[in-house]
Amino acid sequence: QPTPPISLVIFGASGDLTQRKLIPALFQLCREGLLPGSLRIIGYARRAKSDAQFRAEQRAGVVAHGRVQPIDAEAWEGFAANLFYHAANFDDPQGFISLRERIEHLETEAGVAAGHGHRLFYLATPPEAYPGIVSHLGAAGLQGATLAQAGSHGWTRIVIEKPFGHDLASAEALNAHVLSIFHERQVYRIDHYLGKETVQNILAFRLGNSIFEPLWKRGYIDHVQITVAEAIGVEGRGGYYESAGAIRDMLQNHMLQVLALIAMEPPATFSAEAVRNEKVKVLQAIRSLAHAPLDQLVVRGQYAGYHAEPGVAPTSNTETFVALRLQIDNWRWAGVPFYLRTGKALQQRLTEVAIQFRQPPLALFSHADHDDHVGPADEMEPNMLVLRIQPDEAITLQIGLKPPGPEMALRPVALDFRYAAGFTDPHPEAYERLLLDVLLGDATLFIRRDEVEAAWALITPILEHWANPETPPPALYPPGSWGPDAAHELIGREGRRWRS
Ligand code: BG6
Repeated sequence: QPTPPISLVIFGASGDLTQRKLIPALFQLCREGLLPGSLRIIGYARRAKSDAQFRAEQRAGVVAHGRVQPIDAEAWEGFAANLFYHAANFDDPQGFISLRERIEHLETEAGVAAGHGHRLFYLATPPEAYPGIVSHLGAAGLQGATLAQAGSHGWTRIVIEKPFGHDLASAEALNAHVLSIFHERQVYRIDHYLGKETVQNILAFRLGNSIFEPLWKRGYIDHVQITVAEAIGVEGRGGYYESAGAIRDMLQNHMLQVLALIAMEPPATFSAEAVRNEKVKVLQAIRSLAHAPLDQLVVRGQYAGYHAEPGVAPTSNTETFVALRLQIDNWRWAGVPFYLRTGKALQQRLTEVAIQFRQPPLALFSHADHDDHVGPADEMEPNMLVLRIQPDEAITLQIGLKPPGPEMALRPVALDFRYAAGFTDPHPEAYERLLLDVLLGDATLFIRRDEVEAAWALITPILEHWANPETPPPALYPPGSWGPDAAHELIGREGRRWRS
């Protein structure tokens, strides 16, 4: 019995994601012998192109973006022999029929009956094309085996890139449509942040060490800050970005995922369902913003010069920065604010979670700064745990110690773990991990239907508020800053400040 081959169809094969991320990740998995079976990749896109042209383009992508350089020419040849190109429109039913024939041909060539190979469809197109592709896959009979056939047939799975919807109603409609053709267990909604090593380490750190979890709650924690800062602007993606903005591009997905991992309850097992149940519960426990004073809880900003970016309307109110304060109404977190901020054209690229602990109940010691000037105890830097997700991946715990000398005063110092020094193993790219998980059928690091809807339910009131012409426009901030002043006021009003 030959091992069933895997046919992976990438819709949107001419796009950036395919060339920069998907093919380099698949090539790397192949190089490391991690692929579970033989893989044939079919790039599906509109433009006419030969297999040879497609292979050459993808080779250039791996040379430019592959993790391991220089690429091994022989290994590339072996990989590229299984790269094919299928030129057709996304809305052409015939394109999907011929796609099915092509897959069946590859299956029989590999020695299994048509339909007995595994099939993976990857939607890397603009999101407008998703519903049509899903319908055409169904109409062409590519939705996979029925439960009755499941034993003898191969599996069929579908990966859907972000953005999954643009608000709650559209996400619900897309879910309903996808699930009218595929079963939820076949659907892998991807968020590349979950594939990052440091993001996976949030749960490892919390739940694999017994010293932190007992402190991981109100009572010990004063507040949590999550920052996802980028130094780059919109980089020629103005057209896409205009329809997204920072809240849809980063907050609804990547940041709420990080928040869920920080705040969720420990799952009973590490199975996909157990983990995702807990993530959904915590997302649903975030206090609704539907009737909240949004002007006090949310700040939107736009970097000066954004209007001059290609594809951006001269009067655009699209936010390139957002900061907000959230509250999780559950037993663990009641009363602990979560402050989130993300933006483009900020001072530096930095993604981190900072957990600030409460001050000790009595201030017994005064506070010494780095020059050992002694000051009042209430200026003592609080204990802070920082999980730095990127760059310079690290975990740092700030504590207070008495510096040598006659004075009994505390100075902040750091216990510091740096990934680069602590782990010499190579660091796989997020897409390597996630593609491998899809091929292995592990959905733990993918977003479930109810999870994506909970995230949209949370931010949709903000989107509606901003769509109201009476809402003031985004505050301008200079590129290279930390965002508009209003973001500092948001946290400053409560006597706190962003970590800088
Ligand atoms: C993407 C956004 O999802 O994430 C981009 O669309 C953003 O706008 C990118 O730049 C950031 O990803 P990373 O992995 O560089 O932090």
